[in-house]
Amino acid sequence: MEGFKTRVESWDDFSPLKHVIVGRADHTCIPPSEPATEAKVPEDSDMRGMWGPRPLETVEKANLQLDHLANLLEKRGIQVDRPTPLQWNQAVITPDFSTGSMFGCMPPRDVLLTVGKEILSAAMSFRCRFWEYLAYHGLMQRYFDEDPDFRWEQAPRPRLTEDSYKQGYFDEITIEERLKRTAELNFVTTEDEPLFDAADVMRIGKDLFCQHGLTTNRRGMEWLQRHFPNHRVHSVNFPGDPYPIHIDATFVPLRPGLIMNNPKRKLPETQRKIFEVNGWEIIDAAPPSHTQPPPLCYSSVWLSMNCLVIDPKTVCVEASEVNQMEQLDKLGMEVIPVPFRDAYPFGGGLHCATADVRREGSCEDLFPKQVEGTRIRPIN
Ligand code: GLY
Repeated sequence: MEGFKTRVESWDDFSPLKHVIVGRADHTCIPPSEPATEAKVPEDSDMRGMWGPRPLETVEKANLQLDHLANLLEKRGIQVDRPTPLQWNQAVITPDFSTGSMFGCMPPRDVLLTVGKEILSAAMSFRCRFWEYLAYHGLMQRYFDEDPDFRWEQAPRPRLTEDSYKQGYFDEITIEERLKRTAELNFVTTEDEPLFDAADVMRIGKDLFCQHGLTTNRRGMEWLQRHFPNHRVHSVNFPGDPYPIHIDATFVPLRPGLIMNNPKRKLPETQRKIFEVNGWEIIDAAPPSHTQPPPLCYSSVWLSMNCLVIDPKTVCVEASEVNQMEQLDKLGMEVIPVPFRDAYPFGGGLHCATADVRREGSCEDLFPKQVEGTRIRPIN
């Protein structure tokens, strides 16, 4: 590979994938309630009030599916690395807060944001996820040693004091109220300090589209804009989502010029302009094949659209999501069915469970016509 064992470089989610990290389920915990995770656990969820290590048989089943994904990618010539799980069932204690356990390392996408030759560990807005980047430390060290151009970066560590969260935000909150607050950009996280999760960022070359929601605040996006001065950072939000956490079951790019949008979480008109004036088509994703997520799962049934694009003509989709597979097949893509529902409760779908190390291509400008409406900085 051009003389180096590893070359880190990825600018988007659809160029041909060459090297990827696939998560592991070992030791994953359901973390205790904390100001931000109240947001994640739906009112009627079987996870309310439960916390601690997940049952071993479910961990084993999830790992089988994660290993299968890793093997499948390797067979297609893609280099695969795996994180080193910590014993997640340990308390997190900092000078500012403590919480009873950590979470896990099934979803590297939540933590690691690859932008060009850089991998940035996100701030993270859940207290239980404060140390999660450590599971990737060995890989980052290796990439650093093997690739002289690799930029190993870490966002400012947040303090996550009580000031980072609105007190009482979830007290007796209804779904209607949640939807109203999403539309009003009123989230549990305050603007006290920059906060973002990597999975709230959709990368398309020179443009980074960030979901403003429960896990990413405006200051987090401001920080990203200053950190990536050659990029254009945009703020997008999806008023139909009562739990707006992570963009990849809501707004998923498939290839240059084409994005799938969750039909229950439409991008508002004012924010569509940047796509329209640049000739991008936004299509509704197909309906999920399930009416419920699997037991003890944080995510919604819309993990159906959380697919892993391997190149603009090839995509991995969860094997039972027949509607989603059919839609992508009709769009001319080779669809690879991947059984993954046993892994969902550990942190999400096929996109969540992976993080890019390298894709082909360079930093393209796919939105040469910029308009007001989404940009973090006004257009000069
Ligand atoms: N935000 C992930 C989901 O829809 O489940």
